[in-house]
This record gives sequence, structure tokens and C-alpha cells, in this order.
Amino acid sequence: MLVGAEPGPPEPTAHCAGLGVLPQHRGRGLGPALVACSIAAARRRAAALHALAEPPLRGFYERLGFHPLAANHTLQTSGLGRRDLDLAAHPPAAWPLPGRVVASWRPGTWSRTPTAEAATVQLERGAAHLSREGRAILVQRLCIDADHDDTSAATIVALEALRQRFAATTPILLYGCDTVSCVTAAILRTPHWRVVQTAWEMQLRFIAAVDKHAPPAASCRPN
Ligand SMILES: CC(C)(COP(=O)(O)OP(=O)(O)OC[C@H]1O[C@@H](n2cnc3c(N)ncnc32)[C@H](O)[C@@H]1OP(=O)(O)O)[C@@H](O)C(=O)NCCC(=O)NCCS
Repeated sequence: MLVGAEPGPPEPTAHCAGLGVLPQHRGRGLGPALVACSIAAARRRAAALHALAEPPLRGFYERLGFHPLAANHTLQTSGLGRRDLDLAAHPPAAWPLPGRVVASWRPGTWSRTPTAEAATVQLERGAAHLSREGRAILVQRLCIDADHDDTSAATIVALEALRQRFAATTPILLYGCDTVSCVTAAILRTPHWRVVQTAWEMQLRFIAAVDKHAPPAASCRPN
């Protein structure tokens, strides 16, 4: 399991990811023990620990004291053009972008993305932070100009403009789409986008755990 901390705002937050126990060792409490070790490491540096849980794992984290904050989809499509935009010609801008946020990942991830692999592009009706991961383009943040009354329609236009800038062989992933947003629903009504992952953002606030005298159920030492 991987654990890292971000300074915030609004508060220093640790994130854990990649929890996995080898199949032959499952069912012996090792998973909860790994989470307990992550909690012990993160408690020294952060006010809360966040984990991303695929829907079947939500209950696993709830048993350890985490609460669900929100569920997000990752959506996927492909480009429409003949070649990929040269990311180097579009230097990355600061995380806040003007307009309404319609899809967003984390500022800490953006700040750690190497400049050579990151780009901020102006689109018809919006702007996006992009990065490259392997063959794929990740949309880390998409904002739509606030002067459009119909954010859903403007988002569809902006995403089509984005697709034009990448080759048909390039996968495009849109991170952090609110599962209950009407904008996300509008994107999914187009034939080009599909959900490839859904995850619950789970949070364990250390202060709350202390106040309730309810430390996580698992100890750091497996059975
Ligand atoms: C999920 C995983 C980490 C659990 O680790 P594990 O060491 O096998 O955990 P255990 O089976 O010993 O479970 C410990 C407790 O959690 C409970 N639990 C396990 N999976 C659960 C689930 N999906 N929902 C609710 N409770 C769950 C168990 O019932 C057990 O409870 P108990 O102590 O009362 O008996 C492991 O199965 C795994 O590596 N799975 C594949 C990778 C994966 O899905 N990673 C998570 C990505 S978010």
C-alpha cells in the first residue's frame, strides 16, 4: 500500500492507494493491518487519510472507520484527429482555472506532474489541464466559461474540441466526474464517452477518531 501526504488546503491530507494482498494470503487480516499501518504513518503528518475504494470495497473501509465523501467516475473516449497536440507548446498553468469546474482530480497530482508531460489548453468554451500517461491523455481538470447558461451543452462542445486535438488512436481519460452531476449525465448521453472506473473517496479524520475514542479496528500487527 502506498501512502503520501499533501499540504492542503483546506488541511494537510494523506492519501493511500494500491492496497493489495496476494491471493494466497487473503482472509487473514493483512488488508486491515496494512490500512492500520498507513493510518499510523499518516497521523503524524496529516489531519485526515483518504482512500479510493471501488464500490465493492466501500464496506471494507467503512469497517475501519472511513466515511464516504463522494463517488467519481473516470470517463474514456478517443481522439478524432490525425495526430496528437504537441503538449510542449502549451505550458502548464496554475491549478485554478477560470469558469465552472466540471471534472477535477487533485491539485497535488497536478503540481507533481513533470512540466514536459503537462499542458494547459484553451478550448472552445473552456480550458483543461492535461497530462500524458503512456499512450493516454489524462484530463486532470476541465473548467467551462461561466458565461454559458447551459453548462452541459458547453461541456460537450469543449470536449469535442479536445477530441479534435488528439489522434483517433489516443485514449482520452476524463478524471473526477461527479457521478450524480447532470453534466456527467449529459456527457454519457453522447455516444463517445463511457465509464471505465468508479471510485468512492473515503475519508478517515484523525481528530474525529480520537474524539470518539474509536481507533481503527485493525492493529498494525497482522494475526
Ligand atoms: C481487499 C483486500 C485488500 C482485503 O485484504 P484481506 O487481508 O484479504 O482482508 P480480510 O479478508 O482478512 O478482511 C478483513 C476483514 O474485512 C472484511 N472485508 C473484506 N472485504 C470486504 C468487503 N469488500 N466489504 C466489507 N468487508 C470486507 C472481512 O470480512 C474481514 O472482516 P472480519 O475481520 O470481521 O472477518 C484483498 O482482498 C485484496 O487484495 N483484494 C484485491 C485487491 C483490491 O481489491 N484492492 C483494493 C483496492 S481499493
